[in-house]
Amino acid sequence: AKYAIPTAGYRAFTEYAEALDYVASRPLPAVLKYDGLAAGKGVVIAETQEEADAALKDMLLDDKFGEGKVVVEDFLTGPEFSFMCFVSGRKVWPMALAQDHKRAFDGDKGPNTGGMGAYSPLPFVTAEDERYALEKILQPAADAMVAEGCPFEGVLYGGLMKTPQGIKVIEFNARFGDPETEVVLPRLKSDIVDIFCAVADGADTRLEWHDFATLGVVLASKGYPGSYEKGHQIKGLDRVGSAVYHMGTKADGGRILTAGGRVLFVVGKGATLAEARANALKDVAQIGCDNLFYRTDIGHWAFEK
Ligand code: GLY
Repeated sequence: AKYAIPTAGYRAFTEYAEALDYVASRPLPAVLKYDGLAAGKGVVIAETQEEADAALKDMLLDDKFGEGKVVVEDFLTGPEFSFMCFVSGRKVWPMALAQDHKRAFDGDKGPNTGGMGAYSPLPFVTAEDERYALEKILQPAADAMVAEGCPFEGVLYGGLMKTPQGIKVIEFNARFGDPETEVVLPRLKSDIVDIFCAVADGADTRLEWHDFATLGVVLASKGYPGSYEKGHQIKGLDRVGSAVYHMGTKADGGRILTAGGRVLFVVGKGATLAEARANALKDVAQIGCDNLFYRTDIGHWAFEK
């Protein structure tokens, strides 16, 4: 807010009654975020005033997660996308855009996960949107960190949303995104070591990108993101032509076994996103394991909108 970076309207509260009055003055749903650790239960999207009341009582009257403050944010709608930039002080080099898929099942249904797939580029984000996001969000964030006396060097990840009121930032991370990076970096034509050196030295560099598209599908253990079994054998990896990232596997003699929630990430390439998706799904079908599931609709925003 201090640097006028577009984000959801919000206010922070430590007093229950004030927070409740503020919620009543804003359109529903309200997003209530406890500022602190809350075992994954610290964000509530309240559809009604009663739900907001109950959540604010938990967070501010009964101190269910400890004493703390609550940020009340306006609820935003629209597709989310990830805009990662290499940053060195005021220098910002944008990467190709990507979109993650957080929900476990097709149709964006089911619980949130660490990411079930990603793709790049994004047809629903125009060149003008991208310029706006760079000029109004990522560049001002880098400049703000310089102005605050803590210049940033590294990868600044903007989690953005294309809302009917324009592009807004939902979150920043000071790292590469996963699984976005696995679909973005294969499209990078420039030498990444030159880029890392430029970031470290504050020197000049240029990023060039391939035109091809990438689309990746995560194979996860059945039950993930809840409890799941490990130790199931994975077969057929030698038949896969696409890149396969091992997210949670283990070698056992000559065998590869599942060893995590998200197990494999198969990234297809193609002249178009449709071709990249067909290649990824063709290769996913080569992989044999009796305890894996995956989404078949990765990239649906690109294909349907
Ligand atoms: N894919 C989301 C993240 O890396 O935070």
